[in-house]
Amino acid sequence: MEIVAAADSDERGLTLLRVVGQLQRVIVFLHSFACDRSHLWSTQSSEARQGPVMSDEQITKKVREICEELILSQENLKEVCDVLHEELNKGLGKDTNPEATIKCFPTYVRELPNGKEKGRFLALDLGGTNFRVLLIQLGEKCSMDSRIYAVPQPIMVGPGDGLFDHIAECLASFIKERELGDELLPLGFTFSFPCKQEGLTKARLARWTKGFKCAGVEGRDVVELLKAAIARRGDVKIKICAILNDTTGTLMSCAWKNHNCRIGLIVGTGTNACYMEKLEKVELWDGDLDEPHQVIINTEWGAFGDNGCLDFIRTEYDNNIDCESINPGRQLYEKMISGMYMGEIARQVIIRLVAEGLLFDGKSSEILEEKGSFFTKYISEIESDKPGDYNNCRVILEELGLNSATDTDCANVRHVCECVSRRAAYLAAAGVAVLLNRIGEESVTVAVDGSVYRFHPHFHNLMTEQISHLIKPGMKFGLMLSEDGSGRGAALVAAVASRNSR
Ligand code: GLC
Repeated sequence: MEIVAAADSDERGLTLLRVVGQLQRVIVFLHSFACDRSHLWSTQSSEARQGPVMSDEQITKKVREICEELILSQENLKEVCDVLHEELNKGLGKDTNPEATIKCFPTYVRELPNGKEKGRFLALDLGGTNFRVLLIQLGEKCSMDSRIYAVPQPIMVGPGDGLFDHIAECLASFIKERELGDELLPLGFTFSFPCKQEGLTKARLARWTKGFKCAGVEGRDVVELLKAAIARRGDVKIKICAILNDTTGTLMSCAWKNHNCRIGLIVGTGTNACYMEKLEKVELWDGDLDEPHQVIINTEWGAFGDNGCLDFIRTEYDNNIDCESINPGRQLYEKMISGMYMGEIARQVIIRLVAEGLLFDGKSSEILEEKGSFFTKYISEIESDKPGDYNNCRVILEELGLNSATDTDCANVRHVCECVSRRAAYLAAAGVAVLLNRIGEESVTVAVDGSVYRFHPHFHNLMTEQISHLIKPGMKFGLMLSEDGSGRGAALVAAVASRNSR
């Protein structure tokens, strides 16, 4: 209609361009839904590059406009908090839990350490790209000795028995190396995946997350699978005293010396939080009602949004990441926050900016076009440059085969990184604020661990600032780096468990 009504040919041309632009956007939008991400933005690049030359200011202005959808307003964040609060209620409710996306698994850990725990413990830690075996000494003299073993990619996605045989083999070689064969040490197993626990030593894997997908494990008790693998070898004896999530380990490890600690948070390869909840609020609870009337709840909040309730803030980049992941439709909150995905979100934005001629003079590189090539650690490194200084940024861009970046390119790449990491920090902050408001105590310490929290130069401050905006007035909180939850935390759960079973 507009085309016909246009008076002169210039105007007609412009209108035509606008319509074509709109059509392009519709196609892009439809593409993103069809999950066909192939060269989505690249198709635009040659046309975009032929456009009029823009000044650095104009480029920067456009980059900022495009990045705006990654910026969450206070209203957005308040809404995230409200929805999360509701979803947690559904998870804790007996009738609502089966349909709930946030599963709120009771961990059967009901006591926090009192600081007097002692003894020697073994711990296993599986949950990220590596697997660790640890020997921990608790008491007046504390020590820790550990060894990291790689989990090769084929094992991460191969048959379940292969994974547990690998774990048992690493454990056996550690026990032999450290000459621990004669002792029957209590062992805590940090298994950082969503598990429905049926006791302190029984945990059925609900589903794999974070790039693992071993067949035959979902729905099974992982303690039994580990015991079976150890029995197949027949060369080591162990006493598994507890299975726990890394969030629980993080909370326990910090609570050992800090008696206000009530929340354990991980922002690493994945994200998740646990917190101490009153039994009366856990309708789901089927254990005894003896003292203490509390239990640590492993929320598994990574799955927040899997029912569409976060769609109001998700972008096409989030949709792409999800479609291309090993578990589409799952862990949508985690995919906006955690280290496994943050770098790839930034890469998606960068690729779009290149395709629109707004970065590197519209010229991409082979490496940049490869999925996963922009590591999450690059975000931390780029943001570690002093403002106006682009040393790390240039080194990284060169690693990516982008050798002629201008200062404006670097500033804009940094802006992309800041938008992505700020959004992640604010979303994690919203989650923590909801838990703090639920706990309702005047002063609470939040134990935090994970590579993103540890290594991103501003994550702690961004989270702290945003939590203060979102909690009830008068509450005090502190985010505290929790040293080695998966090791010391596992030992402490094992210690508290063996204290109670004596
Ligand atoms: C994933 C796992 C969860 C774990 C978190 C952090 O979200 O499902 O169990 O706590 O990653 O490692």
